[in-house]
Amino acid sequence: MGNAEKLTNDLKSLESEVQQRLAKAVEEKDLENISIEFLGKKGKLTNVLKALGTVSSEERGQIGKFANELKNSLEQSIETSRQHILEQYYNKLAETEWFDATILPARFPAGFHGGDVKGHIHPISAMQKRLEDIFSSMGFSIMDGPQVETDQNNFGMLNFTDDHPAREMQDTFYTEQDHLLRTHTSSVQIRGMKKLKPPMRMIAPGRVFRYEELDASHEHTFYQMEGMVIDHTVSVSNLLHLMHTLLEEIFQKHVEVRLRPGYFPFVEPGFELDMKCLICGGKGCPVCKYSGWSEVLPCGLVHPNVIKSGGLNPSQWQGAAFGLGLNRLVMMWYGIEDIRYFQNPDPDFLYQF
Ligand code: DAH
Repeated sequence: MGNAEKLTNDLKSLESEVQQRLAKAVEEKDLENISIEFLGKKGKLTNVLKALGTVSSEERGQIGKFANELKNSLEQSIETSRQHILEQYYNKLAETEWFDATILPARFPAGFHGGDVKGHIHPISAMQKRLEDIFSSMGFSIMDGPQVETDQNNFGMLNFTDDHPAREMQDTFYTEQDHLLRTHTSSVQIRGMKKLKPPMRMIAPGRVFRYEELDASHEHTFYQMEGMVIDHTVSVSNLLHLMHTLLEEIFQKHVEVRLRPGYFPFVEPGFELDMKCLICGGKGCPVCKYSGWSEVLPCGLVHPNVIKSGGLNPSQWQGAAFGLGLNRLVMMWYGIEDIRYFQNPDPDFLYQF
């Protein structure tokens, strides 16, 4: 056998070797390996063609042409195998993972606002908005304050001294030196007094945080609305009248209230204001824990030290303050028995309001 014949045979056997290997290839990586092994710069084809120098120039032309065609056809075969492997891969995927491209996006249940609403107001936001409307109509400004507060605004300026045991009434998340997640919206009292010129009335709704053991009535994150009135003279009867009017506005019916003494460092005197239970009318039920009364509104007359912290002269200015628990109001309004629902992302909870 002449050199030319041997070379042609070698090329042909390369071809059948490649075809055999392609028949066994199962993934794209296999194809890549075949391509490098046979057609790469240092591959078998290049190696075989080294023998071109041993044939006559006429034969070299013919064999060279043949080798080029062979190379093209092998590349073509590899590409065909690639298509085949991908097709198999996608077919297999389609058997296990599929989606229905014709399905409509998720909607609110049929009948709920026409079943075609893009979002939904959270019941706490709805309650907040209602209160803001009521207070705005009574001439109150709406103040905002940061959720990460200074220790001073949350405690110090509110007459909690550094070692005041009342600091422990509110378990606190501390962030960094002298800062914390505000434990109550009372922190905005200080900001309000400094910003709004007295006489003034303000509310400050917002999110507050406590390092709590969670249960049906304790959450680490909840909502309050602080209220504050500063004027030349403010009395307990002014406060009581305001609280009573407010509750009747909220619940849209006659409500009976009572005051009990309560202790908060920033008010003196301080009170817990109770409302006759709306569920049982005072007879006693699980909601009011069979007492006939629900504790709704801690409040009091602003302590002179707090008036001073706000940059005002306590011999000229007096104040009343109260702190509404928004979660609690919403729970009473709708008869929700567990506070943890509010932070739960389950939309079925929201659909009910
Ligand atoms: N900041 C108090 C708390 O979160 C609630 C409170 C009590 C607010 C009495 C007041 C007040 O404005 O006068 O427990």
